[in-house]
Amino acid sequence: MLKPVVIKVGTSVLELNGGLNVEALRRIAREISESTMSQSIRTVLVTSGAILTGLDALGIRKKPSELTLREKQMTAAVGQPLLMKEYIEAFGQHGIRVAQILVTEEDFTIRTSFMNFIRTTKALLSHGILPIINENDAVSVRELVNVFNVSSMVRFGDNDRLSAIISSSIHASRLIILTDVDGILDAENRLIKEADCVALEKLTKRLSGKSAYGRGGIRSKIEAACFAASRGIPVNIINGKVEGNLRAALRGENAGTLIRPMKAALTTKTF
Ligand SMILES: Nc1ncnc2c1ncn2[C@@H]1O[C@H](COP(=O)(O)OP(=O)(O)O)[C@@H](O)[C@H]1O
Ligand SMILES: [Mg+2]
Repeated sequence: MLKPVVIKVGTSVLELNGGLNVEALRRIAREISESTMSQSIRTVLVTSGAILTGLDALGIRKKPSELTLREKQMTAAVGQPLLMKEYIEAFGQHGIRVAQILVTEEDFTIRTSFMNFIRTTKALLSHGILPIINENDAVSVRELVNVFNVSSMVRFGDNDRLSAIISSSIHASRLIILTDVDGILDAENRLIKEADCVALEKLTKRLSGKSAYGRGGIRSKIEAACFAASRGIPVNIINGKVEGNLRAALRGENAGTLIRPMKAALTTKTF
């Protein structure tokens, strides 16, 4: 079976005026659908955006960062099915059927659950169904992770890391991370077209004083990318707001930053 490509869609790509940008979601679905059909690639989508969608539906005019944990979980529970409804419709326009899988860090610490996740994902792919995966925010106990002593190997932190763990577990051919900047920028704000993890680690140290890092967004992407790269998976970080970038990345072109896989990939047995 052809190796699948994992695509991670960040909140930043799906946000418009504090709510869900349905047009952006439809464009992403179109680019994936067209590539899937013309090149017979198989894709797995890891998507954020449940909270944004829930905020819209509930008419709450706050940023996700201004919500309490309980409000976030409640909003995600409202938003997740509505977000899926948009994906079902958007992919349905192109004749592609989708499925939803919600996971927590705890699921991945239990070997049988983790194996079931992999088997279900592969079964969906072999039936031509596109798996759409997100963290199950409504029950996720991210803030309690230390108490439960969950191995750092399976800490999602956010969907960047989840997408990297999934890429490694299903032996993806590539991980494509969509965000709202053109890729990884260096200390002078120039786009880094290509890098390996040794260079990125140096860059992270140099940039750690920069205020932009307060958002933590790119650091988590670099960590996730290097997790995947260490397992032999190339990673593209691209601007998901620009039409055509995803299509190019799915053709194997570098439309942002390419993080090269390490030559001697570590063995892929994670647990
Ligand atoms: N060196 C850097 N290169 C690229 N982006 C950076 C850098 N430092 C900070 N960032 C910020 O990281 C953000 C992307 O991460 P994040 O906000 O978490 O988006 P997403 O929702 O896609 O995960 C960018 O919008 C940018 O402001
Ligand atoms: Mg982020």
